[in-house]
Amino acid sequence: MTIPATPRTVETPAAPTAADTPGTAPDRYAVIGHPVAHSRSPAIHARFAAATSQRIDYGRIDAAPEDFVRIVRDFFATGGCGLNVTLPHKEAAARLADRLTDRARLAGAVNTLARQPDGTLLGDNTDGAGLMADLARLGIRVAGARVLVLGAGGATRGILGPLLDAAPAQLVVANRTASRAQALAAEFGEGPCAVQGCGLDALGPLLVAGPFDLVLHATSLGLQGELPPLPQALVAPAGAAYDLGYAKPDTPFVRWARAQGVIRAEQGFGMLIEQAAESFRLWRGVRPDTTALHDGFA
Ligand code: ATR
Repeated sequence: MTIPATPRTVETPAAPTAADTPGTAPDRYAVIGHPVAHSRSPAIHARFAAATSQRIDYGRIDAAPEDFVRIVRDFFATGGCGLNVTLPHKEAAARLADRLTDRARLAGAVNTLARQPDGTLLGDNTDGAGLMADLARLGIRVAGARVLVLGAGGATRGILGPLLDAAPAQLVVANRTASRAQALAAEFGEGPCAVQGCGLDALGPLLVAGPFDLVLHATSLGLQGELPPLPQALVAPAGAAYDLGYAKPDTPFVRWARAQGVIRAEQGFGMLIEQAAESFRLWRGVRPDTTALHDGFA
């Protein structure tokens, strides 16, 4: 889609411009999803804007799938500068964007739309970068580690590329539907570390070689407060369990990991903050310091 050009938001870090000036309307951003009422993105971006002395207006848009394209077109046609895209629209956003970053193309999903100076829409995916930034913050190493990802849906697609780039010793994707994990493995399997895809029920034999150093939970079951059946001794006690989802006080996966004796069991608040910081950087040309948010938000 092509939108009338305005002098805002460019692909590579944009210099903050006119709307930072008092007297002009703040630039408009929003998170679009269905449902979206629970989203913490408005609060996060408000904190980023305050910390970087920028004036932005960041709202929430609830869009049913059949209305998504029309609502996005309206948003940008009426001067909107950028959108965060959340479930269930990430794949639709990838189809709608005029151009995708490499990481969004690899993921097949877009969580950030940015209007370009020529009026076109750039689609990016900051989820993987957000995860990697949070793992680094937590001191969880991927390089040389045996890594397992539970689930083979859209969330997994967004993180496999960055995980592979970090050079794990082994990367396994285990999914209820084995064929979906195997298809993802075949797609991402080029490179020094082969991705292995299997069914959740095939995890047992893999554990003969020992538990995994890092297990990431990326199924959608957490949204329902549930967890897929998992074998004992899946995570090394000195290893880490990380849930891409988040809940107060803990997700079922985090509770399960702690019950298994895993000390380092984390949920995805940090990833949420870091992916938002990457979106903010794409839109505003400055990456906010996330430290205060990590300390006080979750
Ligand atoms: P998302 O974008 O959140 O990843 P998705 O693409 O629909 O959503 O993928 C959902 C993931 O959760 C899939 O890996 C799915 O497994 P299947 O491919 O077998 O459907 C997984 N999932 C959903 N419900 C599940 C359940 N009851 N048990 C195990 N895995 C489940």
